[in-house]
Amino acid sequence: MRAASVADYRELARRRLPNIFFEYIDGGSYAEATLARNVADMEALALRQRVMRDMSDLKMGVTTLGQTMTMPVGLAPVGMAGMYARRGEAQAARAAAAAGIPMCLSAMSVCSPEEVAATGTPPWFQLYMLKDRGYMRELLARVKALGCPVLVFTVDLPTPGARYRDIRSGFTGQTGMAAALNQTWDGLTHPAWMWDVWANGRPHTLGSVAGAVAQTPQAKRGGRITDFLSWVARNFDRSVTWKDIDWVRETWDGPIVIKGVLDVEDAKAVVKAGAQGLVVSNHGGRQLDGVRSSISALPRIAQAVGGDLDVYMDGGIRSGLDVLKALASGAKACFVGRAWAYALGAGGEAQVTRMLSTLRAELGVAMILTGCADVAKAGRDLLDTPG
Ligand SMILES: Cc1cc2nc3c(=O)[nH]c(=O)nc-3n(C[C@H](O)[C@H](O)[C@H](O)COP(=O)(O)O)c2cc1C
Repeated sequence: MRAASVADYRELARRRLPNIFFEYIDGGSYAEATLARNVADMEALALRQRVMRDMSDLKMGVTTLGQTMTMPVGLAPVGMAGMYARRGEAQAARAAAAAGIPMCLSAMSVCSPEEVAATGTPPWFQLYMLKDRGYMRELLARVKALGCPVLVFTVDLPTPGARYRDIRSGFTGQTGMAAALNQTWDGLTHPAWMWDVWANGRPHTLGSVAGAVAQTPQAKRGGRITDFLSWVARNFDRSVTWKDIDWVRETWDGPIVIKGVLDVEDAKAVVKAGAQGLVVSNHGGRQLDGVRSSISALPRIAQAVGGDLDVYMDGGIRSGLDVLKALASGAKACFVGRAWAYALGAGGEAQVTRMLSTLRAELGVAMILTGCADVAKAGRDLLDTPG
């Protein structure tokens, strides 16, 4: 099948990836109500069709935090992408750079920040608050030295939410012989992935935290990617408060974006904390299930703090039409998570590049048929509100 839409990349990824990784990407937390809401609320928004305007010249570029983007879309931080395709984060970084958009590298990436920066474009860097502040300080110095321009600080994961699908697939919770047999069978039944990632995509470590994890007994015994994940889970710091952002600001002198805000009061606290941007996000429906969709939280937050910092959103973007809906709802730009993870799993850099050019083409069509010539001017009037 030749993929035409994000749903098609999802299907290709489902066929090519071991079940544990496909379910990890595709799933959300608990009953997945929020995951479904992200998509359903986006679909429910109607664009307002306008005709007979001269739309021969479209402006899709935005400048944010000193960065230029050729379209208002970036790659959201997605953990373990190096397990979806050989050195996956480096491949995605090349696709993003070729498209002229930012990629935000997850702290849970297989490729180290050094490996990704060596592609020629230092990525934005995402971090969680870890208990080991000394390690965080070292990591921030490392990514600063590489020229990473923006720090994205994720605040909606002081502790990981439960993902039923990961338990069912045997990705988490299973240990010993049962885990080994399950994972071996999963790999053997996906030979294209075995060749690409398992045989030729090593090392399978988490590049940003490998130094710290190397000290643990599991890692000394050889370590699997799940050992890294459990190290990380043990090291999330749930005592984190806005005061800790002061510490981050002292440690990092570049722009800071706070990711994972759904509430207006929290958005105001982000402004007070001195960050330059925020991402309206529920972690793609992977944390607190039952919370509202990102797209429904966006308008009020953009209205409250949009004049003070740059407001972005992620969650449920599955097409270029959705990108315009996000802008119309108040976002300066949006980020895609699963869309690029599926494309990477479907076929690496080439498919991420194709997926991004599809998003761009779809955004163009949406702009032309809503009479929006410049994304900087996209507003509520692009939406057809009832009444
Ligand atoms: C497989 C996967 C891994 C993720 N890993 C991270 C991560 O390491 N750090 C982070 O801040 N967000 C992470 N996220 C959340 C995304 O950055 C983003 O908020 C979410 O995917 C947006 O929703 P969407 O998938 O509907 O586009 C992850 C999401 C997925 C699907």
